[in-house]
Order: sequence, then structure tokens, then C-alpha cells
Amino acid sequence: MVDVLFSEADIAEQVSRLARLISQDYKALVSRQHPLIVLPVLKGAWIFSADLVRCLALPVRLEFLRASSYRDGTSSGELHVDIPDIASLGGHHLLVIEDIVDTGRTLSRMLEDLRACHPHSLKVCTLLDKPARRIMPVELHYRGFSVGNRFVVGYGMDLAECYRELPYVGDLGGS
Ligand code: IMP
Ligand code: MG
Repeated sequence: MVDVLFSEADIAEQVSRLARLISQDYKALVSRQHPLIVLPVLKGAWIFSADLVRCLALPVRLEFLRASSYRDGTSSGELHVDIPDIASLGGHHLLVIEDIVDTGRTLSRMLEDLRACHPHSLKVCTLLDKPARRIMPVELHYRGFSVGNRFVVGYGMDLAECYRELPYVGDLGGS
């Protein structure tokens, strides 16, 4: 049984708020020739980033990052990070889009790799933050909701590849 934790309306409100902040912060910095490069982390951030980019009043280029740390269910497996065409990211404003930051391991590893390509700037936007579980400190520049130590699904997020299609963020209980 999945309980609704954040409804479609709750999410839409946060998406608009975050998009307004991001648009304000970058409007003087980017142009069609030098767009903001938005980097959603697949697969979890696909729905959030699709909604977010459509609310941005900015020229955007899209590149996808791929990270997998949850192999089966909720237990943390080996961490794999895939950044395509990394050389082309140098000198640009980069915004990583995450679904949820839990221990921070995935994000800190990706940020380390992205810093190595010398971006003009590097920031993070996450829909959800689970600060109680943090192991690696990471700065979250744009953050939607904070959640306690619970496993959430829906709106792109999964448990063993299930529940991604739910239009809301749901709660599967403590993990
Ligand atoms: P971290 O490396 O521990 O911060 O985990 C990062 C990734 O694990 C997130 O981007 C999610 O894809 C996944 N994850 C962490 N917590 C949850 C959860 O509660 N539900 C679904 N996926 C999660
Ligand atoms: Mg993720």
C-alpha cells in the first residue's frame, strides 16, 4: 500500500517555485549561444526534470547522467556513474537535477567528475532531500521537500523498478 506523501498539487507548487528561483538566478548568465546545461540523473529524475524544464524561462541544453546505486530493492549496491560527452561540458553553467538525495554518495561522486571538466558553474536541484541519512556532505542549491528516514516512490522514483509511473510521491514506510 502506497500512501500519498506529496500530491500532484504539492509537487506542481514546488516545481513552479524552484523554476522561478532558477530562472531568476540564471537569466543574466545564459543565452541561446550559451545555454544552461541541465543534467537530469536517470532514471529517477526523468519526470521531475521534464516538468521543471518546461517551467524554466531560460534557454536550456539537456544532457543525461546515469547513476545506479540501488541494484535490487532498497539496499545500496555498487555505485556506477555514466557522464556522456563530458568534454563538451567545460566552460558551461551546469545544473544537476536529482529526484532525491539520500546518503549523498551518488551526487558527490558525480559532482567530483563534473568539476574535473571545469564548468563555469555547477549547482544542484533536487526534488527531495533525506538529510538524516547523509554520509557525504553535498550542497543542495535548490531543494523541494525534505523527508525523514523513509523510502519513497512515484513521480519517477522506484522500488526495484516499480511505482515510477505514480503521479504523486508515496511512502512505503521506514527503511
Ligand atoms: P544516495 O547516493 O544514497 O544519495 O542515493 C541516491 C539515489 O538513490 C537517488 O538519486 C535515488 O535514485 C535513490 N534513492 C534514495 N532514496 C530513495 C527513496 O527513498 N526512494 C527511491 N529512490 C531512492
Ligand atoms: Mg536518483
